Amino acid sequence: MKVLGINAIYHDPAAALVVDGRVVAAAEEERFSRRKHGKRPLPWSAWELPELSAAWCLAEAGIRPEELDAVAYSFDPALMVTPEETGLFDDGDVMRKRYAQMAPDFLAHALPGLDPAKVHFVKHHVAHAASAGKAAPQRDNAVLVLDGRGEAHSHLAGRYVDGQLEILAGQALPHSLGLMYEELTDHLGFLRSSDEFKVMAMASYGKPRFLGELSELVRATGDGGFVTEKIDFAEFAPRLGKDERWTEDHADLAASVQTRLEEVLVELARWVHEQTGEKTLTMAGGTALNCVANTRILAEGPFEHVWVQPAAGDAGTALGAALHVAAELGERTEPMPGAALGRGWSDDEIERRLQTAAIDYERPDDVAEAVAEVLADNGIVAWFQGRSEYGPRALGHRSLLAHPGFEANLERMNDVKGREQFRPVAPMVLLERAPELFSRGPIPSPYMLFVHDVAEEWRDRIPTVTHVDGTARIQTIDAGTEPLVHRMISAFERRTGLPVVVNTSLNTAGRPMVDDPRDALECFGSAPVDLLAIGPFVVRRPRPTPRP
Ligand SMILES: [Fe+2]
Repeated sequence: MKVLGINAIYHDPAAALVVDGRVVAAAEEERFSRRKHGKRPLPWSAWELPELSAAWCLAEAGIRPEELDAVAYSFDPALMVTPEETGLFDDGDVMRKRYAQMAPDFLAHALPGLDPAKVHFVKHHVAHAASAGKAAPQRDNAVLVLDGRGEAHSHLAGRYVDGQLEILAGQALPHSLGLMYEELTDHLGFLRSSDEFKVMAMASYGKPRFLGELSELVRATGDGGFVTEKIDFAEFAPRLGKDERWTEDHADLAASVQTRLEEVLVELARWVHEQTGEKTLTMAGGTALNCVANTRILAEGPFEHVWVQPAAGDAGTALGAALHVAAELGERTEPMPGAALGRGWSDDEIERRLQTAAIDYERPDDVAEAVAEVLADNGIVAWFQGRSEYGPRALGHRSLLAHPGFEANLERMNDVKGREQFRPVAPMVLLERAPELFSRGPIPSPYMLFVHDVAEEWRDRIPTVTHVDGTARIQTIDAGTEPLVHRMISAFERRTGLPVVVNTSLNTAGRPMVDDPRDALECFGSAPVDLLAIGPFVVRRPRPTPRP
């Protein structure tokens, strides 16, 4: 059984392919089109399909469009209510509905040979739920979808028993924790439904001074749902334009909203636990990318395990929709094998690209050792290995690496990437060493979706990755699943005594993550990076970059 999943309606268009119950490929359109987020999340762009990623998924598996058993589209226009009934008064919904209704024809046009009758509409939050509950390693689990909006809801609470979803609650619009956070993102001068993680970072600089007022406006209702009243953020801190300087008031507002969000999420987790008694909570939806909240749900909530879909935003609904429809068609689906579901390249293909670029390169005995040497010398390394990641985080396949032992490297990394200086960078750590350095968050933590406390005695040793509040958003590296990355960090540890390297996504400001070898060479050519490690090859910058 071959099912292609498609996300197109709001943000982050993406495609995923499930064959005989197994996820074989998944990728975001932005990695192919080289346009960040694929498109703007506007009603008049709802028709745009992830054509390139969908075509690649099929090519990767050697499948022609006419051979597909189904296409799962992660939105069901029949479930939409009117703009008045949602309470959002979003006139764009008329266009979204029309474009979604026409998606089968659009898809048949984009994938010649596809029978439009094979397109299934999947409720947006069922697609999110499946991306968590059916992709997680624990087959039975409770599930929370924490989103901005779907057809008529912003959230779903339920459980998976033997692969079957039982929906227990759903919060109707206009109440939406995700939209509340988006509004704040906009108020603080950032790009809504894109820069929410910047608000989360800003929150760590503030105090939740306005929590009292917000507790009135945002609250769980005890039946699995919640209320979000309209908040006039300007009452707490004035609206900011793009790149305008933020003040203590802004940081305190961010901290207050963040804290209130966490409190309500812990209550929602408690409710779904009471209903299900499950040990594992799985989560998806854009709000589930809030790693500070995720840690609090694990630390204060009743669940033993919390598993978050690495592509928790809308991109992940392509995968979830495909898993859901595959199960509907009678397939027993398997958990996702990991996040490295995108494009990969053979050594020969990479070498041909290097030859085409007419650039000097070497093939060292061990690329892990060659990289560790440059990192130990405080160089910056672009690391391109294996298949690219599905979801917004670099997880050791398309990464920019640095030495974690120098405070100045935070500014240096943010300069390389042209990012705001208050943004933290994250550590990759050897799994077996992680408990000694990090606590509070879960270990293992392979997808960077939780924050951890950095042990007091380690804070001065890895200042680049220790955030102002003493936390770090770690990725643990398991020798079994990531042998090359593990070898590289081990080689770094032998030289420096540190079982940690700095890891941030391999891209420059405003661009999607590098995906193919040419992107890697373009990024390397334009950014002050000392070494490009691409497959078994390395390309060295002739003159070392300035060391801080
Ligand atoms: Fe969504």
